[in-house]
Amino acid sequence: MKMKHNLWTLLPFAAAAVQTALAAATPIRRDAWPYGPLSTNGNQIKNANGEPVIFVGTNWPGSGETMLPEGIEFRSIADIVGMMKYVGYNFVRHTYAIQMIDQIYENDGNDVTVQSALLDGLGEANATRIMGMIHENNPQITNTTTRLEVLDMIAEEEKKQGMLMHLDNHVSRALWCCSHDDGNAWFDDLYFNVSNWHRGHRYMAEWAKNHTNIVSMSLRNELRKSTIKSDLEYNWVTWWGNVSQAAENIHATNPDLLITISGLDYDIDLSALTSQANLLDAPYVNNDMNYVSNAQSMPAMYADIENTEFGKANKAVLELHAYKQSTYYGNHLEDCGAIQAGLYRFGFNALGESARPDGCNNSTDFSNPYSCPKANVTLPTLLTEFGDAMDSSYANVTMQKCLRDFTTKNKIGWAHWSLAGSYRTRQGVSFFNDTWGLTNPTWNEYQSKDTVDNFFRPWIQDMGPTNLEL
Ligand SMILES: *[C@@H]1O[C@H](CO)[C@@H](O)[C@H](O)[C@H]1NC(C)=O
Ligand SMILES: *[C@@H]1O[C@H](CO)[C@@H](O)[C@H](O)[C@H]1NC(C)=O
Ligand SMILES: *[C@@H]1O[C@H](CO)[C@@H](O)[C@H](O)[C@H]1NC(C)=O
Ligand SMILES: *[C@@H]1O[C@H](CO)[C@@H](O)[C@H](O)[C@H]1NC(C)=O
Ligand SMILES: *[C@@H]1O[C@H](CO)[C@@H](O)[C@H](O)[C@H]1NC(C)=O
Ligand SMILES: *[C@@H]1O[C@H](CO)[C@@H](O)[C@H](O)[C@H]1NC(C)=O
Ligand SMILES: *[C@@H]1O[C@H](CO)[C@@H](O)[C@H](O)[C@H]1NC(C)=O
Ligand SMILES: *[C@@H]1O[C@H](CO)[C@@H](O)[C@H](O)[C@H]1NC(C)=O
Ligand SMILES: *[C@@H]1O[C@H](CO)[C@@H](O)[C@H](O)[C@H]1NC(C)=O
Ligand SMILES: *[C@@H]1O[C@H](CO)[C@@H](O)[C@H](O)[C@H]1NC(C)=O
Repeated sequence: MKMKHNLWTLLPFAAAAVQTALAAATPIRRDAWPYGPLSTNGNQIKNANGEPVIFVGTNWPGSGETMLPEGIEFRSIADIVGMMKYVGYNFVRHTYAIQMIDQIYENDGNDVTVQSALLDGLGEANATRIMGMIHENNPQITNTTTRLEVLDMIAEEEKKQGMLMHLDNHVSRALWCCSHDDGNAWFDDLYFNVSNWHRGHRYMAEWAKNHTNIVSMSLRNELRKSTIKSDLEYNWVTWWGNVSQAAENIHATNPDLLITISGLDYDIDLSALTSQANLLDAPYVNNDMNYVSNAQSMPAMYADIENTEFGKANKAVLELHAYKQSTYYGNHLEDCGAIQAGLYRFGFNALGESARPDGCNNSTDFSNPYSCPKANVTLPTLLTEFGDAMDSSYANVTMQKCLRDFTTKNKIGWAHWSLAGSYRTRQGVSFFNDTWGLTNPTWNEYQSKDTVDNFFRPWIQDMGPTNLEL
């Protein structure tokens, strides 16, 4: 039932009193950048003033063994954020491990210090050396500073320089992500304790309330089949069961946050959700799913996102990844038509038919690389990981050009993988250098200034107004 007048217009004095009381209880956010809380409207994300907002950014890894954002031993936080600012980014996807929160609970509710996290992650000699480097470049970080205090500092610096902080649960146990056999792959996997996962989400959703530039949170990066625990049921039904429960849990803790939903097979497939197919027998991009054996005899089930509490509150956003090593894309690297049709079919069709790429045909065969089925839900959909080696030929890689074209045409938010030109430890190697990083190994230059100036900066210009300028 819709009322003609609301209470406020009938009772202006009472309204003012109640609004003052509410203002005291909840932080006012609408009157200052980034004009949150954000919410969704059709295929768009909007700020509290109703203006469409577009995320453009990168990933800042912080879920390695030390559970501390990479790079701060080489540069000040302000300088690193400044390097992102120059590119034009307004969005930083920060990866964190549930293990960080588990340790807080094991430590009577207190976060552990940076120093002790380094000690656990690197061993004594390198921990002392790295701690000294961190303190030298960031004098405010001392032996008593905790990990989340560092994340507080980064959040405030990002806010100062006009960037949103997105909290991405990347892994449970802190280590390099992702493989089928790392124990972090799927619900109930070796390290993937579901109740600890929910507890970690709640902790971070609560922590996020202290920073107005944290307007969104993810559930889990790149869900995939576990080969360590191959008896775990990996399919659309268990996916939606776990994902919807986790999203409701975050929403109940912090109803202001947008919640990003990631798909199967390393987050490349959300098609069962966007097409509202029967989860019991919906098609899937790869061949490693545990199909439900008696699907035909069971009542159909749907990923009914629009009727969840977070969906009804306009907080549901989809996120997908696309890499040259991903299933499907790996077979179509030089064919932009097939890449864009794949993006559309696997989830970007939630943006609506305006995003339907040229060159699609109307085959309904899921395995046809050019088929572009219509979606049955409309939601904002983000490309939260993609990337390649950062050298002067980045701009000539078909897949990268093609992703740029698709996101620009359709105003799709994106986050490149990644900021980090090195990791203090990764896959058993100290000072692991990554050619995919935006920065060089010592974080004092871009790995490819040419790519920043001639690919990323013009790309962001081409995206048009993002409504996230300071
Ligand atoms: C300490 O780091 C250096 C490289 O920076 C590496 O060569 C060495 O193996 C590391 N030591 C330990 C104990 O990991
Ligand atoms: C921090 O701890 C290290 C290693 O225990 C020690 O060498 C250093 O003096 C300490 N620094 C401060 C400022 O207390
Ligand atoms: C998950 O962790 C909790 C402690 O937080 C523990 O009580 C529970 O047994 C664990 N669950 C599994 C399946 O290991
Ligand atoms: C939020 O900030 C206040 C004031 O700085 C602090 O007391 C509180 O512990 C913080 N809350 C969280 C969840 O970090
Ligand atoms: C979560 O996934 C596991 C499979 O690993 C499954 O056993 C469980 O039933 C799922 N939970 C929900 C709520 O669907
Ligand atoms: C999805 O949309 C198609 C038409 O585009 C329709 O035939 C089908 O019934 C819809 N499915 C659901 C579950 O809404
Ligand atoms: C596919 O269907 C669309 C309408 O949804 C139509 O405009 C287009 O011409 C069709 N394409 C082909 C190749 O038949
Ligand atoms: C769709 O396009 C592909 C590639 O051009 C072609 O092989 C296929 O037959 C087409 N299917 C339909 C139904 O038009
Ligand atoms: C990239 O492509 C352009 C135009 O096709 C060409 O001029 C340039 O040499 C290429 N650069 C590299 C590094 O391959
Ligand atoms: C990473 O690069 C730095 C600086 O270029 C170099 O000193 C270091 O040895 C490299 N690390 C490895 C593991 O090769």
